[in-house]
Amino acid sequence: MAYAAFRSIGAYVPQKILTNEDLSKMVDTSDEWITKRTGIKERHIAAKEEFTSDMGVKAASLAIERSGIALEEIDMLVCATISPDYFCMPSTATIIATKLGIKGVTAFDISAACTGFVYALSVAKAFIESGMKKNVLIIGAEKLSAITDYSDRGTCILFGDGAGAAVISATQNKEEAIIDVHTGADGEYADLLMTPNGGSGSAHDELENEAAGCFMQMKGNETFKVAVRTLTNDVKEILEQNNIKSEDVTHFIPHQANYRIIKAVGDALKMRENQVVLTVAKYGNTSGASIPMAINDLYEAGKLKAGELMLLDAFGGGLTWGSALAPFSPIRDA
Ligand code: COA
Repeated sequence: MAYAAFRSIGAYVPQKILTNEDLSKMVDTSDEWITKRTGIKERHIAAKEEFTSDMGVKAASLAIERSGIALEEIDMLVCATISPDYFCMPSTATIIATKLGIKGVTAFDISAACTGFVYALSVAKAFIESGMKKNVLIIGAEKLSAITDYSDRGTCILFGDGAGAAVISATQNKEEAIIDVHTGADGEYADLLMTPNGGSGSAHDELENEAAGCFMQMKGNETFKVAVRTLTNDVKEILEQNNIKSEDVTHFIPHQANYRIIKAVGDALKMRENQVVLTVAKYGNTSGASIPMAINDLYEAGKLKAGELMLLDAFGGGLTWGSALAPFSPIRDA
């Protein structure tokens, strides 16, 4: 049987930085409020002509280069995004594939909001273990600034743009294998976080008047509580089912939504401070891109070594949630 190995990581952030100070000139808020309630200090914002796919391509190019796997060997590409280049079609994954020069392979998007990267990982694992694919490029890419209402202080302080990518490939070596990926969803909570208009539920003749409804809307406080509960339970379950203790995890890499959520979940799971990866202060919430961007930060700081166990944990609109246990398994020189 083939196993799936987490081979490499890459990420990209756009140049422009939007600070809390900048936001305090746009809406009634302050650096102090945002820092205290969220831990966010700044976020990156893509240029007008920079699309989600452009950021995805940059992250993916790095991940492919670092994987040691040739571009021609990639046989599937999955992009997790809620801010695709185009609303319905073509998918952002097909655009990224073409921009990378990958032709004729399976390519599609996943819509699972902030859990998108974990969903993409579960798909890659399943396709590889079934023998259908050998090298899957998974990408989380978001231009959330395009769907953010910059007059709503309850949401615009949270979100940023960026992309992260990983190459997942087949191995016969069980020690290299992704141990487990959990994913779940509950549409009962759909209205906590949504872009209410612009879909098939919108009447065409009303669309012009409903443009504001295409931006994200959120019930922040309720989302916060459900997030802490769901993230904690999900991690407890995946650890228990795989007979792994939280102290055996080298890097706990939660979705970077809010420092207070991460702290509450980390404490509930008895994670040591040096296990928890934090990037929320400098990137804000980049939805499906946040976990691979955080893994990339760790990697580029020289803190992610072959064989170290990563625990991923995500939560997002849908509602969706997911977690994963995976050793970092770059191809080692013979
Ligand atoms: N600046 C200043 N005041 C703000 C504000 C801002 N940016 N946003 C909201 N407020 C005000 C509210 O109007 C409210 O005022 P009131 O008491 O006079 O009514 C007060 O601050 C408290 O609002 P509340 O929404 O209860 O704050 P909170 O502590 O829950 O923090 C969030 C708000 C959005 C930071 C927090 O709820 C959160 O992070 N939720 C989870 C969001 C998330 O992670 N979403 C993505 C999931 S993937």
